[in-house]
Amino acid sequence: MSATYDAPDRRNLLDHMRQGVIGKPLDRPEGPLKVTGRAPYAAEYDLPRCAEGVLVGARVSNGRVTAIHRDEVSAMPGVLGVFADPAMLRRPAQGGAGKAPAQDVTQVDYKGQPVALVVAETFEQATAAAKALRIDYEDSSDSAHFDPDAAGVEPPKKPTDLGDLEAAMRDAPHHVDLIFRTEGHASAAMEPHAAIAAWDGGELTLHGSFQMVAYNVPELAASLGVDPARVRIVSPYVGGGFGSKLGISHDAVAAAVAARELGRPVRVVLTRQQVFESVIRRSETRQRLRLACDETGRLVGLGHEARVSNLPDEKFAEPVTQATKFLYAGDNRRLAVQVTRVARLTAGSVRAPGEAVGMQALEAAMDELAETAGIDPIALRKRNLPDKAPGEGIPFSSRTLVEALDRGAAAFGWDRRHARPCQTREGEWWIGMGVASAARVNMLAPAEARVRLHPDGRVEVESDQTDIGTGSYAILGQIAAEMLGSPIDRVTVALGDSRLPPGAGSGGSFGAASTGSAVLRACEAIRAELSSRLGVAAEELTLQDGLARGGNRSDTLVGLLGGDMLEETGRIEPGRTGKDYSQATYGAFFCEVAVNAFTAETRIRRMTGAFGFGRVLNAKTARSQCLGGMVWGIGSALTEALQFDLRDGHLVNHDLAGYHVPVHRDVPALDVILLEERDAVASPLQAKGVGELGICGAAGAVANAIYNACGVRPYRFPMTPDTLLDQMPDPF
Ligand code: MOS
Repeated sequence: MSATYDAPDRRNLLDHMRQGVIGKPLDRPEGPLKVTGRAPYAAEYDLPRCAEGVLVGARVSNGRVTAIHRDEVSAMPGVLGVFADPAMLRRPAQGGAGKAPAQDVTQVDYKGQPVALVVAETFEQATAAAKALRIDYEDSSDSAHFDPDAAGVEPPKKPTDLGDLEAAMRDAPHHVDLIFRTEGHASAAMEPHAAIAAWDGGELTLHGSFQMVAYNVPELAASLGVDPARVRIVSPYVGGGFGSKLGISHDAVAAAVAARELGRPVRVVLTRQQVFESVIRRSETRQRLRLACDETGRLVGLGHEARVSNLPDEKFAEPVTQATKFLYAGDNRRLAVQVTRVARLTAGSVRAPGEAVGMQALEAAMDELAETAGIDPIALRKRNLPDKAPGEGIPFSSRTLVEALDRGAAAFGWDRRHARPCQTREGEWWIGMGVASAARVNMLAPAEARVRLHPDGRVEVESDQTDIGTGSYAILGQIAAEMLGSPIDRVTVALGDSRLPPGAGSGGSFGAASTGSAVLRACEAIRAELSSRLGVAAEELTLQDGLARGGNRSDTLVGLLGGDMLEETGRIEPGRTGKDYSQATYGAFFCEVAVNAFTAETRIRRMTGAFGFGRVLNAKTARSQCLGGMVWGIGSALTEALQFDLRDGHLVNHDLAGYHVPVHRDVPALDVILLEERDAVASPLQAKGVGELGICGAAGAVANAIYNACGVRPYRFPMTPDTLLDQMPDPF
């Protein structure tokens, strides 16, 4: 079978297996290791003679390093060396993109950019020397741009321009023209970035924390100028990535450079502040939404234009309009993203790049249009589902938006909502409800996985696929168990080592469906061999609990194997299905908030999310992904904002005390509805990606609930009290 996924695999193989483990809410096999602290994370390996490295960040926001006074610290206790090798200072390639940007390595682009590594026998000694290290700079901060609003913008890349949006806005009976702002986000993964590098001759082994091992190996090799075949990355457990570990970060290259020079292993662990200051931010955005509809609520005009920022030579631009492109109808369209260049750390992928911030603004605008046009907000959304992807004319693979809106509304009790704001008051609190659609593009990525069926019936699954807290170990084991008729406790899964076949990695929500499809293909090949041994056609083979049956034949699996081990490597590559169909995951959010009439503080009281993402591979881990996404949504709605000082560009809130992710107290019990469906276009598993869907639009539902509660339309995310207070109605 070709690895390229050109035609939908409508056999829906997993539906015909008998083991009954696929989709079940099974526990993560590695869970006990994690909760008992026995699962080693990147910094936790004990290597003999391991030295400790501490990175030093630039003290100026823009300029040039002119001198590093190494001699002044070299005699400090335990100091082994001060490194400022060009390889480790260059910005590492991000997002599995391959090459790092061309760059003069004495150039300082932002405050906190790593400019040196101090290595010592102990972490304390390295920290002391790093603090004492004097570095001279040529400071050109005066000529740098720190304010994205003040810097010029570049022309948009590949804008969508269809029909005449201006005319539609002018002529339509109803329209809204709104400006939204969203603040920058930190990925805020719990595990700080860390690496331990050890060379054996010319062979490097790097323990690190990564999302995409198969891409991180060539990134690291290119940074070091070595053959990728001589670089091994080990990353079996990852304490969250959220985009910040898609590419390698400075710690990995710096550890490898120093370890090579010193001839002994070196560990580099970023402090929380260094993670915030040097590893990927989500750009702040300024978004103009123009929506125009006819008397019946049909959209005739749709404009979504965004301004985002990045460093001067970075390619990434937060793809704010990604879901706007396909979600709603409207013949006259303008979608564009423009980049402005500022002296802030690299902007890149953070938790659903594009949709996370684009959908919340679009969905808030849809709510305002619904009110302007006098149409129920759910009805407005349903009325505007295009038959074909606008502008592309291709069909949708599957789309559960209507089901999500209907089932979510019923579960949430949407019928109890008052259409007009300021109708419900409980003591000091205004109460309101809001709805928003969820949408996120779906992707299949190249992946390989190896499956071994041992003579005693044990199954091994292997791939460099990572598990970033998402459940890869669980679901890959379930797929193999289901396909090979094996009890789940007979299956082991090994991941996160570049010596294993290259999986898709964890990014863009594509890990499970992509690497899972490779596992499925490997199992199909094993089944083909087993069916020929049994003497039946492959479609007739039933495997269950170690028994093989087909036609009028049967045997034990162990008997069929006859002492042999069967080993197959499965592959999947994106193909025509990715181009012939518009693929996305869909859902709906319903939220009830209380807004304090005196302080404008918002509290989430209830939230329901209904999500359709193809086959559910594990109902527990999938639900957890949705919960996590909704929690991000609450953060985006109410608390999360990177705050840069506009005078010198430094990041003011560079830790979890100042950067507020939602904590337990901010998150009420969340209700998640999984909408089972089969999307054979998306993958041979009929599964799509669920990792990021839960944030895509969530903050829009909160904004709409705030308006419904107190009559104030929020246009700034996060919707902190200060952004609402001066517009609040008389509390008495
Ligand atoms: Mo995701 S932000 O593509 O890890």
